[in-house]
Amino acid sequence: MFIAIIGFTPGMAGVWLRHAAAGEPPGPPATRIMACKENSRMYQDRIRMPSLLNRVMSADEAAGLIQDGMVVGMSGFTRAGDAKDIPVALARRAQQQPLKITLITGASLGHDSDKILVEAGVLARRMPFQVDTTLRAAINRGEVMFTDQHLSETVEFLRAGQYGDLDVAVLEAVAITEDGGIVPSSSVGNSASFAILAKKIIIELNLAQPAEFEGLHDIWIPHRRPEREPLPLTRVSDRIGSATVHVPPEKIAAIVITRTPDSPSNAQAPDAETQQIANHLIEFFKHEVRRGRMPDPLPPIQSGIGTIANAVLTGFLHAPFEHLTMYSEVLQDSTFELIDAGKMDFASASSITVSKAMQEQVFGHLERYRDKLVLRPQEVSNHPEVIRRLGLIALNTALEADIYGNVNSTHVRGSHMMNGIGGSGDFARNAFMAIFATKSVAKDGRISSIVPMVPHVDHNEHDVDILVTEQGLADLRGLAPRERALAVIENCAHPSYRPLLRDYYNDALKYGGHTPLALERAFEMHIRLRDTGSMLPA
Ligand code: COA
Repeated sequence: MFIAIIGFTPGMAGVWLRHAAAGEPPGPPATRIMACKENSRMYQDRIRMPSLLNRVMSADEAAGLIQDGMVVGMSGFTRAGDAKDIPVALARRAQQQPLKITLITGASLGHDSDKILVEAGVLARRMPFQVDTTLRAAINRGEVMFTDQHLSETVEFLRAGQYGDLDVAVLEAVAITEDGGIVPSSSVGNSASFAILAKKIIIELNLAQPAEFEGLHDIWIPHRRPEREPLPLTRVSDRIGSATVHVPPEKIAAIVITRTPDSPSNAQAPDAETQQIANHLIEFFKHEVRRGRMPDPLPPIQSGIGTIANAVLTGFLHAPFEHLTMYSEVLQDSTFELIDAGKMDFASASSITVSKAMQEQVFGHLERYRDKLVLRPQEVSNHPEVIRRLGLIALNTALEADIYGNVNSTHVRGSHMMNGIGGSGDFARNAFMAIFATKSVAKDGRISSIVPMVPHVDHNEHDVDILVTEQGLADLRGLAPRERALAVIENCAHPSYRPLLRDYYNDALKYGGHTPLALERAFEMHIRLRDTGSMLPA
């Protein structure tokens, strides 16, 4: 096997190793697919429209539909339900001929697909979100043009023709029904709109994903503007659409059989600091309920991606709140822990991204969760109209926040892309309560997450109600900027940075103003970080 990969790029080695690591026979996916093809009875119950059976082909053949310069929409949302074999086949083809595409997904992909595509030079342009370190580096070198976009908006731009034509959609599915309905797998993301808008569709039929996903989805797609109807969803558990994606079956140009499971989540386990953040929030919610400012049961919760948001939600396991609900975009381990503990009644989202252990528990017993879950297009899960109507508690994570409440979720030192804004802006702007959580320091204390002024703004002071760190919580609602500065410094900043922040603020006061600002000092902590590797003075 190792001899076989000589002549391939390191990315291609990764491709081969990925399949070996998954316990599959060594060799390119095409070999495996031919094996599956021979055994077509394995998937006949999954392709229930007989006229589509002759569209089954290898990933390499199907990837041939994607030409240099095309715009491609692929399924995949925070590692869930992503196309697995076509990215690999595209990378393989790029070894032989020029191939650069614009790749649009729901959100991030698993299986190192972005890494493999970057290393093969396939990605010219990428949107709307990513979490891959290799792609991140290419974006920050200016080699891949990345559009960091509110996740609810991508298909609005596509539908309006603002990104040109969508040439090919590549969608993971668990089945195609008798009437040609495509049944998505662990995410819906932008898949339904990709299928509707694309000229051609490639289906990756994934036999490793449970057929029991069928019935879990609720596909509702709005009309084009200006003939837009209201979105008729008034409770998190409402079903307003169909269980499958409907397109003319003749658009399905290829079906590729795959057996690769989703990449598990890489969120870290809760630690003492995330537990403290959870404790502050739970105390705060209890206080709000006592004061009659928040209902009990609590409003539906949206929880962002990553370690901190997952850990905070886990904190609800031991909180005195029952009958919780979620209206979110991603369901992480914490959702299923809360459902299993009888604390959560229902969860609506666009994807399920869980750890390996939780994958076995949830995907192996989907029937257990059938009446407690729904997966929707991200345009619906993140729709401002619904978020405002349902009155969500929106909990997202910041890289850093400034003393006035502006939040940077995306750009390290104001310039270097981390992941992207994701859905955090969809939720924060429209929620009943927008909460941003972060640890007060990063990188062993060398970086303060509370700064005089953020060098990049994703969520401005008008969209941020609550800031919370392990140090404490600042309730910014109704406060003027001068009041906010004191609340943020004294409640949220790490004690080792409080004197620096107080000193900055007192200096800024000399210049007066509604939002006092010492222009020449506003980025002094970031400049020190850039020059010395720490925001703390030597
Ligand atoms: N400056 C530089 N790096 C920072 C930082 C700062 N102010 N604050 C945190 N980091 C680093 C951490 O050190 C960590 O680095 P590592 O991966 O090398 O260990 C990394 O950022 C992640 O931080 P962590 O504290 O582990 O939190 P997280 O996993 O919850 O991720 C975000 C935090 C902000 C990166 C993540 O939530 C995100 O991308 N958010 C934007 C998208 C979003 O909010 N989506 C929500 C709707 S889905």
